[in-house]
Amino acid sequence: MPVTVVVGAQWGDEGKAKVIDLLARDHSVVARYQGGHNAGHTVVVGQEKYALQLIPSGVLYPDVTPVIGNGVVVDLVTLFDEIDRLEARGVSCSRLKVSSQSHLIFPWHQALDALAEDQRGEGRIGTTLKGIGPAYADKANRNGIRAGEVLDPVAFAESIRRQALAHNHTLAAAGVPTVDVDAVVDRYTVLGRRLAPYVANTIDFLHDAVAAGEHVLLEGAQATFLDLDHGTYPYVTSSNPTAGGASAGSGLGPRLLDRIVGITKAYTTRVGAGPFPTELYGELGDRLVDIGQEFGTVTGRRRRPGWIDCVMLRHAVRVNSLTELALTKLDVLDTFDEVKICTGYRIDGDEYQGYPDRIDLLDRVEPVYETIEGWTTSLAECRRPDELPLAARRFVETVEREVGVPVRIIGVGAERDAVVEWDSGLVAP
Ligand code: GDP
Ligand code: IMO
Ligand code: MG
Repeated sequence: MPVTVVVGAQWGDEGKAKVIDLLARDHSVVARYQGGHNAGHTVVVGQEKYALQLIPSGVLYPDVTPVIGNGVVVDLVTLFDEIDRLEARGVSCSRLKVSSQSHLIFPWHQALDALAEDQRGEGRIGTTLKGIGPAYADKANRNGIRAGEVLDPVAFAESIRRQALAHNHTLAAAGVPTVDVDAVVDRYTVLGRRLAPYVANTIDFLHDAVAAGEHVLLEGAQATFLDLDHGTYPYVTSSNPTAGGASAGSGLGPRLLDRIVGITKAYTTRVGAGPFPTELYGELGDRLVDIGQEFGTVTGRRRRPGWIDCVMLRHAVRVNSLTELALTKLDVLDTFDEVKICTGYRIDGDEYQGYPDRIDLLDRVEPVYETIEGWTTSLAECRRPDELPLAARRFVETVEREVGVPVRIIGVGAERDAVVEWDSGLVAP
């Protein structure tokens, strides 16, 4: 079983980092395959809390090699800030490898991200303003600058100058401030020199690791419903977080991916705009946000809350070939007298099969709910399935039955060990 993939099954912030940190104990390599510093991944170890954006969540284990794969877009300022902060806390990042084929984010990408959001007006996506979309657009337009270019500082400086001038035309035409070309060239020449020792052929590295029988974990950022193809377009990110993206963004072919873990909260959240059929407004939603501390790690924005949605999760199973689910934050529901599980959709009064492929359909969805009695007791100390109250077990079994793949891990707290390993005997079809 060489390669495990962890993907978000909802709209992000499902607790991927915590599950990756848990699984990393049995893996020697953890590699990011898409996205960039729009991700905010939190790992809690005892009293210590680590908020990661670019560095893979396996970094906390000294014998795990963290890899930034070819599919990632890398902001060098954030990368070194993160390395410095981790090293100041005694976490060594010297093992980090950054793919020579990953693309770099520059200040004009951030400026263009903000400009695009302004131009969208009421239709704005609510991006993280990190320059992710414009950096991937440059990659697709074949104008991007790859990490490997830093190995030739003279050519790197020329590339930066050329791209800065080209993007300044766009910014000037829109009447927004341009970037200071000389200052960017100077700053990124220094950052490039610092990056050089980390640059590697990560595709060869990952294949060699697999060939040597080592266990590799591919860490997804964002989530299935933020996927450029499978998400609620245009309210999505600009990469493919789904399992197919794990292959493309790491260079490990699809046949090597054999365990694909979808992460879902016991409810749902979404940051930014876009359809959300099971969204909760009012007091119930506020309680989920308060208890679950649903504020973005990166932007501090309040996350929109809602009930768990098994229609989404069934779709996530299909597009990712999920072999199992990890169900996080079950403890957040501890004080609710009853909890709801969305089991189906109705559109214009009719039952709808599958996941709507158009945003106008999603806007008209009426969720069909199954209501489960709450357990109204704390799950914080539970570590074994038989320690979970009956109502909580019924909740997990209902999700498994509705989604059709086994739940293997249940989260009952933010801390590293606050999990219940679950095995109902169900196997993925
Ligand atoms: P990611 O982006 O998917 O890695 O998730 P985030 O780290 O952005 O957000 C998940 C938040 O929930 C973090 O603050 C975690 O520490 C926390 N968390 C993860 N699992 C659990 C859990 O089972 N229970 C509770 N109460 N908190 C959790
Ligand atoms: P993790 O890895 C939640 C959302 C943004 C916005 C949309 C596009 O922590 O789960 P972008 O800056 O990517 O162009 O923004 O995607 N978004 C996330 N939401 N968790 C994330 O990452 C996200 N990364 C991007 O809020 O709606
Ligand atoms: Mg997050």
